[in-house]
Amino acid sequence: MTLTNMVGVRCCFKLLYAIVVLILLHMNNPCIGCSERERQALLALKQGLVADYGDPFPSWGREAQNKDCCEWDGVHCSNQTGRVVKLDLQYLGLQGKISPKLIELQHLEYLDLSWNNFNGSQIPDFIGSLSNLRYLDLSYANFGGLIPYQLGNLRNLHHLDIRYQSDFPIQDDDFPFMYSGSIYAKNLYWLPNLSRLKYLDLTFVNLSDVVGWLEAVNMLPKLTNLTLRRCNLPPPVISSVSLLNSSKSLVHVDLYNNSLNSSIFQLLPGTHTNLVYLELSENKLSGRIPESIGQMSNLEYIGLRMNSFEGVISETHFSKLPKLWFLDLSSNSLVLNFSFDWVPPFQLRQIRLGSCKMGPYFPKWLRTQKSYAWLDISDAGISDTIPSWFGDLRNEVAYMDLSHNQLRGNLRLELAFGYLNVSWNQLEGPIPSLLSNVSTLDLSNNKFSGSASFLCTSTTEESYLWYLDLSSNHVSGELPDCWINFQQLVFLDLSNNSLSGKIPTTMGYLFRMDTLKLNNNRFFGELPSQLKNCTKLTLLDVGENKLSGLIPKWLGENLLNLAIIILRSNQFYWSIPPQLCHLTQLQILDLSMNNIFGIIPKCLNNWTTLAQKGHASSSIAHFNTIHWGVFFMDLPYDDEASLTWKGVRSKYKSILGLVKSIDLSCNKLSGEIPTEITYLVGLVSLNLSRNRLTGQIPSRIGNLQELDSLDLSRNQINGRIPRSISRINRIGYLELSENNLSGKIPIGNQLQTFDFAYGGNPLLCGEPLPRTCSEEEKGLGQSMLVNEDDKDGLITQGFYISMGLGFAVGFWGVFGTLLLNRSCRYTYFNFLTFLKDLLYVKIEIIRQRILNK
Ligand SMILES: *[C@@H]1O[C@H](CO)[C@@H](O)[C@H](O)[C@H]1NC(C)=O
Ligand SMILES: *[C@@H]1O[C@H](CO)[C@@H](O)[C@H](O)[C@H]1NC(C)=O
Ligand SMILES: *[C@@H]1O[C@H](CO)[C@@H](O)[C@H](O)[C@H]1NC(C)=O
Ligand SMILES: *[C@@H]1O[C@H](CO)[C@@H](O)[C@H](O)[C@H]1NC(C)=O
Ligand SMILES: *[C@@H]1O[C@H](CO)[C@@H](O)[C@H](O)[C@H]1NC(C)=O
Ligand SMILES: *[C@@H]1O[C@H](CO)[C@@H](O)[C@H](O)[C@H]1NC(C)=O
Ligand SMILES: *[C@@H]1O[C@H](CO)[C@@H](O)[C@H](O)[C@H]1NC(C)=O
Ligand SMILES: *[C@@H]1O[C@H](CO)[C@@H](O)[C@H](O)[C@H]1NC(C)=O
Ligand SMILES: *[C@@H]1O[C@H](CO)[C@@H](O)[C@H](O)[C@H]1NC(C)=O
Ligand SMILES: *[C@@H]1O[C@H](CO)[C@@H](O)[C@H](O)[C@H]1NC(C)=O
Ligand SMILES: *[C@@H]1O[C@H](CO)[C@@H](O)[C@H](O)[C@H]1NC(C)=O
Ligand SMILES: *[C@@H]1O[C@H](CO)[C@@H](O)[C@H](O)[C@H]1NC(C)=O
Repeated sequence: MTLTNMVGVRCCFKLLYAIVVLILLHMNNPCIGCSERERQALLALKQGLVADYGDPFPSWGREAQNKDCCEWDGVHCSNQTGRVVKLDLQYLGLQGKISPKLIELQHLEYLDLSWNNFNGSQIPDFIGSLSNLRYLDLSYANFGGLIPYQLGNLRNLHHLDIRYQSDFPIQDDDFPFMYSGSIYAKNLYWLPNLSRLKYLDLTFVNLSDVVGWLEAVNMLPKLTNLTLRRCNLPPPVISSVSLLNSSKSLVHVDLYNNSLNSSIFQLLPGTHTNLVYLELSENKLSGRIPESIGQMSNLEYIGLRMNSFEGVISETHFSKLPKLWFLDLSSNSLVLNFSFDWVPPFQLRQIRLGSCKMGPYFPKWLRTQKSYAWLDISDAGISDTIPSWFGDLRNEVAYMDLSHNQLRGNLRLELAFGYLNVSWNQLEGPIPSLLSNVSTLDLSNNKFSGSASFLCTSTTEESYLWYLDLSSNHVSGELPDCWINFQQLVFLDLSNNSLSGKIPTTMGYLFRMDTLKLNNNRFFGELPSQLKNCTKLTLLDVGENKLSGLIPKWLGENLLNLAIIILRSNQFYWSIPPQLCHLTQLQILDLSMNNIFGIIPKCLNNWTTLAQKGHASSSIAHFNTIHWGVFFMDLPYDDEASLTWKGVRSKYKSILGLVKSIDLSCNKLSGEIPTEITYLVGLVSLNLSRNRLTGQIPSRIGNLQELDSLDLSRNQINGRIPRSISRINRIGYLELSENNLSGKIPIGNQLQTFDFAYGGNPLLCGEPLPRTCSEEEKGLGQSMLVNEDDKDGLITQGFYISMGLGFAVGFWGVFGTLLLNRSCRYTYFNFLTFLKDLLYVKIEIIRQRILNK
């Protein structure tokens, strides 16, 4: 080799070296750090964004020591090129504006802006210029408005998540802002351009106008995961192009709660499908569930709850589904018809078949399922005894709902699980002591008998029980006094049984309790003062027992959350303690049918809820989350109460929140009706009848504009009926009979239609009474005189008797008279009032006898 050659080679090496150095310098060698352009872009991004707690980007700075932006939190650079490839800014509580300089990060492959608060602003369209993006997560970021079509330029995108918000409220609770409006798309023409997309989630994005959504989705040949929950998706229009490319790749389809119809099944071919997860609950799917579903041999999850499916489900539907673990067909109109000895190919973990008819025999195939955690076969038309093998199952059951069937026999389940509901069956015998680990136990409306001592036989010391409903059974004897073990209890309903004895003092340990119902039993004695510990109580119903003693002051002093107090039909005596006025949340007060005397306290205008119109919600809802190992579930419940309304007793649940009512009837209250009652403008029902009230009806009674029912009958109230009463537009039931009212009945609204309302007030006159008013009576503020001549207005005992006979002998005899003699009509109605009074008391006694038998 010659020297010149040597020199030439060296020269070449030098040149090569120089070129390499130059290239490396230009490429931002990792040792040098990120490029200045990228650094400036990130600093611009930082400048536009703030967070409530202070600087969300403390490590991002201009200072020399912060020079390498690859070291900044959330910024990741390629270890080959040194370029910023990943920006992970989730959960920073970011607010403000995203700088357009973001597009300087041209090598960005991964952008996560989820769980921030962009206050309903639009997704910046320049994100569409980040053409190397593979992963884009904009979920829970409170972006709003129209989704920019420029996203269609992201040809490399694999993963797109624009979920607007969660449909699990529990998650949103952690999320400290209100969503500002909505996010939507008018079309998805841009979507097919994302031909590499594998994962798409647009949950809660309003797609109601996107008729061609299925075509758009369908042109994504690599799509595996499709999640469009609550998107207002219209029913798919299946056109000729639609045999479908993406359906081959789809693994996960979640289209929960949209307006889909059964055409959606065309997206899901029966062929070699990869489908693992299918969630179509809460749509408008109808007709039969296609049997082809049984061929999708990879299926693990089927959710079809709350659609309008009908017809028969047979073994064919499941013939090739060995991997299935989740099956939800509840709330459709389906019949399950499996052969008697069917052995399913699967082992389910969750069996959700509520309202699917599978009776009359207890489904035997359940015996083959060895490891389920969830079983719902409520309202399944099963009319059978519970087979003995059912109790032997050693499942890790966390949820079991057998309610609303006609299951007979004893309940022999000693399993440890979280939720057991066997209500509305015909189960009998003693209640098994299965309480140790149960947290919700609803045994109501069965024929369980025996004592309640099972409560104290449990081996564990402290129970997880938070909801216990034994109502409407035949449980008898005294309540055991071991409530100290049940300190998680929030709801306790023992009503409509035959329990007797005193209310146990250890109930005072139930300091978490919201709802306590002991009504319609045979408890006697006083309300134990220990109950004043239960400061969270909102509903207390101990009506229809034999309780006695004073109405406790501590109800008003300690239980300040009380909204509903029902003490009706007991033997409480003495006066109403003024402390009750402290209960500002009070909404329903029923002290009827006791021996209460004294005056109605004037301080009742302190009941602020009653003093307001309107209501927070139509029901009285309680929210609880129960935990059971790895499971947790939201268990809201609505309070229910029995109330007398317009003379009829009924149960109120879904509208209980609307009821604002005071019932002090059938006591011995005296004195005047306090004028303060006219401040309670929210009152819907007021019943002060059958007391010894005197004085006049407060002249501003007309302020009670929400009143639907007003009963002041059978008192000794005198004076005129206030004119203002005619201003109560809503009044649908009025009873003022058997008082000493006088003068002219005011004219207006329906007042003249209440034929029954005014009887037994001899000095009243004017429509609808037959007695016309004299000039004097018509006048205002003048003394009222009895018209001695008006005999029609006076009721004689003889008339009652004759009417009674007439009524018994023949209706037409009486009615004929009434037709002839208008003035008689009134008297006759008086008689009816009298009968009604009699019946009111009688029926009440008979009813209690029947229920307590
Ligand atoms: C680059 O970094 C990633 C993750 O930090 C690592 O898995 C990869 O091996 C690295 N590549 C090179 C060439 O160092
Ligand atoms: C959020 O947007 C609303 C209007 O959409 C505006 O009134 C409000 O000032 C914005 N808040 C912030 C912090 O930008
Ligand atoms: C989709 O891609 C085509 C080119 O294949 C382009 O012309 C069109 O503008 C793109 N559409 C959108 C919305 O990005
Ligand atoms: C969705 O958008 C349609 C019209 O685009 C609108 O009528 C509807 O109210 C929106 N739904 C929701 C829940 O915002
Ligand atoms: C389905 O994919 C094939 C190629 O795999 C393509 O030619 C055809 O246009 C696609 N059909 C639709 C409806 O996207
Ligand atoms: C896609 O769906 C499958 C099946 O349900 C699931 O296992 C997987 O985690 C999903 N992928 C993503 C990224 O969520
Ligand atoms: C489904 O979503 C609609 C609103 O899009 C809502 O009104 C409806 O209550 C939801 N259905 C169920 C069963 O939650
Ligand atoms: C679903 O709705 C679309 C659009 O309204 C209609 O064309 C189609 O016939 C419907 N399919 C079924 C099964 O009702
Ligand atoms: C259930 O299946 C049996 C035979 O498999 C059939 O005879 C019977 O009619 C079916 N019942 C219903 C309700 O479809
Ligand atoms: C038990 O089931 C009945 C009837 O299905 C239902 O009304 C009740 O709310 C359920 N109880 C609980 C605690 O969920
Ligand atoms: C009252 O409740 C507290 C817990 O708030 C409990 O420690 C105390 O023992 C209870 N007292 C009675 C008498 O039940
Ligand atoms: C009524 O309310 C006022 C103010 O809230 C309070 O000071 C007063 O003690 C209350 N009176 C009664 C009798 O509860």
